[in-house]
Amino acid sequence: MIPTTFAKPNVRSQMAFLKRDTLWESEKPYKLGYEPIGDAIPRTNHKYVVQPVDVSDVRQAHQKFTLDRNGFEYHHLRSELKYEDFFDNDKIASVYLKELRELVKTVCMAKQAVPLDAEIRRRHADFPTSTGEEYQFAQPSFLTHIDVTLDGTRRIIQKLYPTVSEEILKSRIECVTVWKPLVGPVQDWPLAVCDAMTLDDADVVPADVVYQKVATENYLIHHNVNQKWYYMDRQEDHEALLFKAADSDAGRTARCAHGSFNIGNSTGMRESIDVRIIVMHADIEYPQAGKWAF
Ligand code: OGA
Ligand code: FE
Repeated sequence: MIPTTFAKPNVRSQMAFLKRDTLWESEKPYKLGYEPIGDAIPRTNHKYVVQPVDVSDVRQAHQKFTLDRNGFEYHHLRSELKYEDFFDNDKIASVYLKELRELVKTVCMAKQAVPLDAEIRRRHADFPTSTGEEYQFAQPSFLTHIDVTLDGTRRIIQKLYPTVSEEILKSRIECVTVWKPLVGPVQDWPLAVCDAMTLDDADVVPADVVYQKVATENYLIHHNVNQKWYYMDRQEDHEALLFKAADSDAGRTARCAHGSFNIGNSTGMRESIDVRIIVMHADIEYPQAGKWAF
């Protein structure tokens, strides 16, 4: 008998990329995180293309992936939080973010790690077909991107540590995201990461992300057949994916483009949490970090 759920190690799917367009010679891509009043400016100037991509299962890859070479790596992470605790922001702050600080400090051999934001994603049954209504929870990101630029990371550090940022920025800084399923195994819209060794700098385009209280800069990605995409088949809730957006160390710039894809044989809706963490290597006394935003 054929089992009802079966491994789909290597998947042909589709992902969305920034369209190659002469518009980007005169405009920077941007997106507003809120509905602008009136029709002053459109909410975004993005133009996308949906491309077929082959996504390979890291469990079957004959290579070890590392943050500094490939831009991502997986780590065992057993949170003390139970599934339902993740819907309590205080518990996330007091337990989960502390766990991530320790994990990331150890993995990156860093002096300080400061979590910025935590995004709980629960796919809505209607996603990716937009109903025009706002979803209660963040949705998977079909558009490939890199979370923040190096310049954006520097500006965040200036806001977190206004008095010592100059000292901090003399040493290595990084921004690392930790992505973890809330329920495993993930068999619905998993996260795919691009091996940074296969990402051409020419396909990486800075873009503005503007909220009402704060603006950041991330990267959007042009598709290129040389890109190699990976995911972890049936990722469990204790299998954390760490991926890097920015690194000031010129020799280890591995930036990780990522996005979610429809794996086809979906059972249930994907639920996950992702947290961006500023990683600092300066050997100083760190004062209490200020608020970045939100
Ligand atoms: C992220 C991200 C998209 C998703 O964690 O930074 O872009 O689908 N996630 O989970
Ligand atoms: Fe992201």
